[in-house]
Amino acid sequence: MSGPVLYFYADKSGGGSSLAALGLMRILKRRFAKVAFFRPIVPEGQEHDCRLLRDYFRLALDVFECRGFGTKEARHFIAVYGENLFFERLIERYETLLRSYDFVLCQGICSDLFSRVVDNDINIEIARHFSAPVVTLIDGYQKSFEEIVDTARLQQEALREASLTHIATIVNRVDEDYIVPLRADKTLTNLFAVPYVPALARPSVADMAEETDFKMLRPVASHYLSRASGKVRIAAQRAEKVLRTLEEGDTLLCPADRSDIVFALYAALDSGLYPSVSAVVLTDGEKADETVEMMLQTEVFRTIPLFVSDDDTLKSAEKIAAVRPKIRSGDSNKIALALGVFAEYVDEESLREAYAASHTEIVTPQMFRHRLFALASRKRMRIVLPEAQEERILYAAQQILNAGIADILFVSDPISLRKRAARLGLDLHDARCIDPSDRRLLKRFAKHFYRLRRHKGITYEQAIDTVRRPNYFATMCVYTGDADGMVSGATHSTAETIRPALQILKTVPGVKKVSSIFFISLQTRTVVFGDCAVIPDPTSEELAEIAILAAENAARFGIEPKVAMISYSTGDSGSGEAVEKVRRATESVRARRPDLAVDGPLQFDAAFDPEVARIKCPHSPVAGRASVFIFPDLNTGNTVYKAVQRSSDAVAIGPVLQGVAKPVNDLSRGATIDDIVDTIAVTAVEAQGVSV
Ligand code: ACO
Repeated sequence: MSGPVLYFYADKSGGGSSLAALGLMRILKRRFAKVAFFRPIVPEGQEHDCRLLRDYFRLALDVFECRGFGTKEARHFIAVYGENLFFERLIERYETLLRSYDFVLCQGICSDLFSRVVDNDINIEIARHFSAPVVTLIDGYQKSFEEIVDTARLQQEALREASLTHIATIVNRVDEDYIVPLRADKTLTNLFAVPYVPALARPSVADMAEETDFKMLRPVASHYLSRASGKVRIAAQRAEKVLRTLEEGDTLLCPADRSDIVFALYAALDSGLYPSVSAVVLTDGEKADETVEMMLQTEVFRTIPLFVSDDDTLKSAEKIAAVRPKIRSGDSNKIALALGVFAEYVDEESLREAYAASHTEIVTPQMFRHRLFALASRKRMRIVLPEAQEERILYAAQQILNAGIADILFVSDPISLRKRAARLGLDLHDARCIDPSDRRLLKRFAKHFYRLRRHKGITYEQAIDTVRRPNYFATMCVYTGDADGMVSGATHSTAETIRPALQILKTVPGVKKVSSIFFISLQTRTVVFGDCAVIPDPTSEELAEIAILAAENAARFGIEPKVAMISYSTGDSGSGEAVEKVRRATESVRARRPDLAVDGPLQFDAAFDPEVARIKCPHSPVAGRASVFIFPDLNTGNTVYKAVQRSSDAVAIGPVLQGVAKPVNDLSRGATIDDIVDTIAVTAVEAQGVSV
């Protein structure tokens, strides 16, 4: 499911992000026609990398598309709406790019610019949500060999812990002496060391113009601004001494009243015998003398950017010293140099191989939800909700309508629904109501129900009384095609919710028993648990059917099914009827669906954990990688799902019924508004009857 994406980030600002962005983009542009560049969080006003890449590589992107949140904006959003929604928004932006581009190159925020309350690098979190392989950058400037190695190992470890694929580490601005030993360190995978290149480290006149508040006296052609601003030379001595010490590319700081220096500089430049300065800054904010002004307007100064600073010379010098170098889109010399340096020290082939071998396959809860909603909104289905008096249901319905996930039908009279909605400040005008006191409807439903159940000895009057009950009424709506699916259970037990479906809708042809699954969204992947809600003690054949339906459902929601039949025994390690039941069920699945990856009996640890699987059953096609976990009975399934849900950050979506002829889903009575939204979305997707 991972998209064509690469995520890179630097440990420190100024450590070579632009260099890496250029180098990586060039490699990608050789292979992909349409590459997007995306920065999930960018310090406000620092979108120049977006501009640089867009302009240089002629990317068909506007700067808005390249950018997720500003840093302040991101902090505010997280503080107000929480991290989950923040990541959901980013996933939305990222997936939109994926739809229109062949590849997305993401540049994370420098780690030193964004700290959170939770002390985990935000880049790692975002890369996980994008399921992206990662390249890390370390600023090696003035770092010892040991410091660099330690930082690289820490990054490597953090990414491994987050189950992310670490493609490479690029150490930039490193001491030349460390290059060979760093490459030779076998504990560091794919480490590339790029030496300190003074020409890239020098700010340009344009950098100075942008980062200081100096005013430019008159415009100059842009290539004069691209010039590196060299040493800062303060014109404090006599004019001839200043000229004698002048070096090519110096930035000359000169108090505005020192007309002698300007005259001397005029003469020096005119003679062509002296080095040329990259810029002149007249300090103390004073207006220069009229003759000086005239001189500054002459042809001799045409190539020299002239600035006025309101500060004194010392303060102005400090401001220049604080200017950070950038690689700008118009600066073709610096861009060419950066690309050359990157190509020389970062091996393209190793990067390509590492990317090709990467298998980041993370599905975070937010990603799963996003995909679920996207799937549901492809075609709006009509979902009936019989619990219209419950506040959580009304709030969830509002979210569903706002997001265009499904159309909503309430089992309620319209007036009391509008009143309840108004009291809660909700606008549910787009929802429809289907009124159980509508005699015409009641009669129609009762007729159907009587026909379906009269062999059980019910009378027509009993049918009327039964279908009047909200769950029966809603189920009848689904039966007659007035709705496409039903969600209930926020105020009813599982039995009350699903019994009408069992009696009226019955099972899908070929399926003997209705059962259920949960989608359990863990931090790095979403797995399926079944049956945790319906069949108390399934036979081995029923267990096999649960497994096959669960595998099909997993695939429908984009999860590759690898089915583990769970028991307290792995292979032959335990015995007893309970284990035998699971063994027989596994055999039955193999016989009925030879194409399915299934194994059992397996203990949960062997099914889930690759390390345990390696020891206990190294040849199993499923152990350590299972995505569908089938529990031997309801006691086990229900206990495990609740234990996982309540003791970790996992999100449990379900129970999703499987095997019912039309989509009906149950809610836990403890369901939150989010749980209800999720279940409605799942029901809508089932109602579409489409596969991912
Ligand atoms: N699949 C298909 N049909 C079924 C199933 C099934 N799994 N179970 C019962 N039926 C049929 C019956 O054959 C019967 O059909 P009929 O009336 O046409 O002859 C009809 O459904 C109704 O049967 P009942 O006997 O009334 O229903 P029963 O008492 O068997 O209840 C139920 C079925 C509700 C699913 C029951 O098995 C049950 O209570 N399961 C446990 C539910 C539960 O408490 N789960 C845990 C909590 S859920 C949570 O934590 C989220």
